[in-house]
Amino acid sequence: MFNFRFTKQEPDRVEADIFFIDCQKKSGDKKGPGRLFDEDGGTLLDRKLGGLISRIIREEEFEGELGGHKVIYTDGKIVPKKIVILGIGTAEEFDLDTCRRLGSKIAQISDGLRAEKIAFRSQPKKINNLSAAERMQALAEGLVLGGYRFEKYKDKKGIRNPTLKTIVLSYKGDTKPISKAFSLGSVIADAINYARDLVNTPADEMTPERIAKESTAICRGTPLSCKVLGEKEIEREKMGLILAVSKGASNPPRFIHMQYKPARKARLKIALIGKGVTFDSGGYNLKPTRHIEVMKCDMAGAAALLAVMKLMPVIRPKVAVDAFIPAAENMIDGRAGRPGDIAVSRSGKTVEINNTDCEGRLLLADAFNYALEKKPNYIIDLATLTGGVLYALGEIYTAILGNDQRLIDRLIGASKRGGEPTWQLPLEKEYLKGFKEGIADLYNMGKTSASTISGALFLSEFIGKTRWAHLDIAESAWANEDRDYRFKGGTGAGVQTLVRFLMSC
Ligand code: BES
Ligand code: ZN
Ligand code: ZN
Repeated sequence: MFNFRFTKQEPDRVEADIFFIDCQKKSGDKKGPGRLFDEDGGTLLDRKLGGLISRIIREEEFEGELGGHKVIYTDGKIVPKKIVILGIGTAEEFDLDTCRRLGSKIAQISDGLRAEKIAFRSQPKKINNLSAAERMQALAEGLVLGGYRFEKYKDKKGIRNPTLKTIVLSYKGDTKPISKAFSLGSVIADAINYARDLVNTPADEMTPERIAKESTAICRGTPLSCKVLGEKEIEREKMGLILAVSKGASNPPRFIHMQYKPARKARLKIALIGKGVTFDSGGYNLKPTRHIEVMKCDMAGAAALLAVMKLMPVIRPKVAVDAFIPAAENMIDGRAGRPGDIAVSRSGKTVEINNTDCEGRLLLADAFNYALEKKPNYIIDLATLTGGVLYALGEIYTAILGNDQRLIDRLIGASKRGGEPTWQLPLEKEYLKGFKEGIADLYNMGKTSASTISGALFLSEFIGKTRWAHLDIAESAWANEDRDYRFKGGTGAGVQTLVRFLMSC
């Protein structure tokens, strides 16, 4: 993580490898050179350099589009060695995610220019109703997320190490909330990067046992408690659906329960459930090549929960949080479940497994039943449940469904501020079609092609009246291409949403 300091010096006097200034794009479709500001030192530095900055903007027709930038070597005319003009987009579009994207750009530009120490100026005034602290938190998130690499398996000789170490902020207001916001943003992003690491690690290593080890490591030395059930205990708990999924695996399942309690009496009790399928081959309903090759990502819900719990001692929400992770591998073997087999859930409901690839909902159903015994006020689950969400929302939005509109609205709000947009799909009973036509109480796969909705409806059969929201992160948890501060591979989707939601409770 970065060192963070304040300075009272004027921009032209700050000792830094780079001083960043903003350049804003004209509104709407209007063309033309971008605008410099007085507040961040842009116009002052332009004057000190004899108009060089505005000349570059004009001659190179730099419009200030978000993410665009220009580098200027200052050649000893002022103290900072380089100036970078950073395009920040239009005034209307400026929001928290703009700050994250800019943070990520700053990290990448700085490492690209081999800079160790960078500086910029920020103003205490609100911008588009965002306080300086809110903007600084998002910027720090972007800096840390944008610097993420997964290079554990690469030849170290070929790697260009990042150089950026120190951020110097010129700020003329109360610095306390700003440095707090910077460190909060940094630790949240660090936890997201941890979730990314877990998802990117091959399934061969990231087994149910390893997930359990991660959870005990997270709780050790903190006020959190952690309980791990092994295969025998899962049997004793009568979690027949978890056992059915993991029958063909040589890596046995685990059931993990992590617990956080606030210092004062908890206002609410929230249960979080994360799907932890460490590899989803599909079972005998084997997945095709293009899908199976990324199925180490099927524990992304569990990874997000581990990251969220890791943050608990830092964010210390006022609510009690119980995180439950059913972790299992969905594999093929002589002992694996066959399509058509029937399993008995912990709740007593029987399930005819007409499709062995619909395994996530089986794990979640038993986890719900266990969690419900602790009488939570809310249940929120995070799961890479259905590939069908790709056709509804692509890779960008997470799908949300549930039985409590207030909870859903609050999660959507938190997801938006966290830069992880979420869109609601209807939990409409009619889509339950086909689930009850077999010889058991339920099939695990229905007849509609709206798999994201029917998957959630299957889950709702195990929820009862408890307030519940389901986030289907099947596509948002894994990126197939780089986008802003998210890179090909695990994205850490869900962490921001849950953290911001819990902090607002
Ligand atoms: N793990 C998959 C869902 C998935 C697909 C996650 C693509 C990430 C990327 C899940 O277990 C599954 O296989 N779901 C089926 C459900 C269908 C058969 C109703 C699917 O999406 O095909
Ligand atoms: Zn599956
Ligand atoms: Zn799956």
